[in-house]
Parts: sequence; C-alpha cells; structure tokens
Amino acid sequence: MARIEVENIKPHLGGIVHVEKADLCEPEVVHECQNALEDRGVLVFPRMNLTDREQLAFTDCMGERVNYTRAVPGSSAAEPDVYRVTLDEEINDSPEYVLGTYFWHIDGVTTNMPLPKATLLTARKVSARGGQTEFANTYAAYEHLPDWEKAEIEGLRALHTVESSLRPVFEEPTEEDRKRWSSMAVKMEHPVVWTHASGRRSLLVGSHAERIVGMPLPDGRAILYRLAEWAGQPDFRYTHQWQEGDLVIWDNCGVMHRVYPYPATSGRTMHRTTIAGTEKIA
Ligand SMILES: [Fe+2]
Repeated sequence: MARIEVENIKPHLGGIVHVEKADLCEPEVVHECQNALEDRGVLVFPRMNLTDREQLAFTDCMGERVNYTRAVPGSSAAEPDVYRVTLDEEINDSPEYVLGTYFWHIDGVTTNMPLPKATLLTARKVSARGGQTEFANTYAAYEHLPDWEKAEIEGLRALHTVESSLRPVFEEPTEEDRKRWSSMAVKMEHPVVWTHASGRRSLLVGSHAERIVGMPLPDGRAILYRLAEWAGQPDFRYTHQWQEGDLVIWDNCGVMHRVYPYPATSGRTMHRTTIAGTEKIA
C-alpha cells in the first residue's frame, strides 16, 4: 500500500506532503491529495524533482488538464500543456502577465470558463533573491470576517478585468496595450462571495477586481482593497520559500496567490500545469 502523510503548515492553510514520487498516481494517494487540497488549500511536495512528463501524469491523475499555452503569450515548454513562468527575456518576450503575478490574484478570473480547479508548479530554477510565492486562504478570510462586514458584502458583484490586474505593472498603458489585453481576456462579473457547490463560501477578490457593480468607484474599490488586504493577513497566509525541485499545488478556487518580486536576470523558472474547474461561480 502506498504511503502518504500530510503535515499541517499553518492552522488555516498549507500542508507538506510526504510521499514517494513513484506512488504519486496510486489511487489512494491521489484521493488523499484531493482531500488535502480541499482541506489545506496549498500542498507542498518538497524536492519532488518531477520532469514535465511526470508532472503531466500527476496532473492527469488529479483532474482534467488545461492547455493555456495557446491563450497566453510568453513561453511554452517542450511538452504541450506545460507553461514556463519566467521573466527570462530569451524565453518570455512579453513579461507583463508574469509581472502582474506580483499582486494578489486568482488564475483565470477574466476568462469565460469555470475557474481552474488547481495549479501545479515545479521550481526548475529559483532566484537567490525574492521569488517566494504567497498563498492566502479566501475561505478562512470569509469565515472570519465580522458579521457586520459579511452583511455589507452579501449579494455584491464585482467586475473583473485584465486591465485592472495589469494596472500596477504599467505607468501608462497605450491604446495598443489595451487592445492586446482585451483580445485575450473578457470582462467578467462575479459575486464577491462565492458560494461553492460544497456549501463553503470564499471571497473572490484580487488585482483583477476592478469595481463593484452599481456602487460609486471609490466605495467599491475601497471594499475590494479592504477584502484583499484582510484575506492576505498573516493568519490566512503561507509564504513558500522555494527550493529547486519543489512541487506546489493550490486550490485556485479557495486560495489567492502572488509572488515576491525577483530580478529578471535571476533566471527563475517555474513549470506550470493546470487542472480544469467544473463549477460555475455562484
Ligand atoms: Fe497566478
């Protein structure tokens, strides 16, 4: 029988998974990982050193894989469905999306399909400085809001745009930039509080949240910033200090993430695969 053990990292978030690489696709290991992902939000597999093929195989065991390489400029690795996240100019000639990941976000919010269920990253090259990835549990963030604030945000809907998520990256976007962005993403309206099929509720906020529908811009933005700030507080947050070969999976529907800035010259490279979601945001 395959052996797997999950050790909690913080009370509200994170688990370190102890398992042999050879056992990753054993049914009981996959089952345990899926449960732990729902429960812990982020799973760390220290120094798993997966090849692209091994990562894809594990991705396929965990769910249905997504191909993003066609929709996002930058880079695709040798294997289809593996995306290289890097600022290395030789690989990625349009770094804006990677720079946008310096800010709290949830993947896939500005595409018109169910949010990706989970993202898997393997660290191929780490940066000597910066480059830590941070995760914040948006379920815990909602649950711990004071009752008055839960009441204030009940029923609110937010407009999410790629322009909003790239605003911090650009001094002044040109008309051409705007056109390029709008060709690859759509404006999406989502509830601020997501009630999942499981009955659990989470906050749906991040840099892509542009405004609250039907509310004056400053009021809506103030609420969105407050919620993102609240969700990102240390109690709900885990900071992963990467070592080469680490594999990290997170529940993209219940966790937002960001990366600490790192120099483009560091060559920091992550190999990413994605598991498709099935649930419409309600
Ligand atoms: Fe991301």
